[in-house]
Amino acid sequence: MFPIHENLEGKTAVITGGSGVLCSEMARELSRHRVKVAILNRTAEKGAAVSEEIEKAGGTAIAVAADVLDRKSLEKAREEVIKNFGHVDILINGAGGNHPDAITSVETYNGESQEKSFFDMDEKGFSQVFASNFTGTFLASQVFGKELLKQESPIIINISSMSSYSPMTKVPAYSAAKSAINNFTMWMAVHFAETGLRVNAIAPGFFLTTQNRNLLLNEEGSYTARSEKIIAHTPMKRFGQPKDLLGVLLWLADEEYSGFVTGVTVPVDGGFMAYSGV
Ligand SMILES: NC(=O)c1ccc[n+]([C@@H]2O[C@H](COP(=O)([O-])OP(=O)(O)OC[C@H]3O[C@@H](n4cnc5c(N)ncnc54)[C@H](O)[C@@H]3O)[C@@H](O)[C@H]2O)c1
Repeated sequence: MFPIHENLEGKTAVITGGSGVLCSEMARELSRHRVKVAILNRTAEKGAAVSEEIEKAGGTAIAVAADVLDRKSLEKAREEVIKNFGHVDILINGAGGNHPDAITSVETYNGESQEKSFFDMDEKGFSQVFASNFTGTFLASQVFGKELLKQESPIIINISSMSSYSPMTKVPAYSAAKSAINNFTMWMAVHFAETGLRVNAIAPGFFLTTQNRNLLLNEEGSYTARSEKIIAHTPMKRFGQPKDLLGVLLWLADEEYSGFVTGVTVPVDGGFMAYSGV
């Protein structure tokens, strides 16, 4: 367990996708450091399950239904957060994911009849996945940005991926969007540098969660060929666990620890990025 970061006490964090596997863990940890947490999710009930758990453990949390692709719903959520907590200090842009319409069934194209190649990808599905991983971060940053700027040491933490550096096969929309996240993180960091708003990102390696379960586990729970490949390319030889992200989260969120750090994307990947495969 991490020692309590007292500088975080009384701050408010808005976490989009906060009922997801990785971001709910972040929400619970921030709450342990006395941060008031607003879980923003499309489905209110899913968010409520996390906020209720936090409240039961003695923290302060609310769940607000919001779609990060819908500016109006984000604005409504902002009203709700301000009504409850009065201010926003930390924005974690965690909403994202994949969809079968934006995934090819093959890794490489060889011209022969293939189940679903690049040419069969659905334009709408592709745009939707790109938007939920990129545009949602842009919109939430715009909607909550002015509130963040009212605070003394605000921060935006975006969630990137290993696929941002070198794209994973099969998921071109997701990869392009996460790459755009790294770029946008640097852009925003520069744009807001004089205001004191820091903008950074975390790039998780491979974590077994709901959204990638079908790609990583066979029905009976054994590793898919893709999983075997991932583990072979992860020098630490395991998938990440949500708690692996918490040290970086606390370091970035706490001005005392990272007050001169802005515009970086921090990989948390068991060495995946450093390994060439040979
Ligand atoms: N799991 C991994 O290995 C991994 C690796 C790298 C990056 N990531 C990223 O980490 C973040 C969290 O992933 P996770 O694995 O916990 O997935 P998850 O599916 O458990 O969580 C994602 C959450 O985002 C929400 N969401 C999606 N679209 C939304 C929208 N339009 N509006 C509001 N909420 C929306 C979902 O409802 C879900 O609660 C994502 O951005 C994901 O891309 C995950």
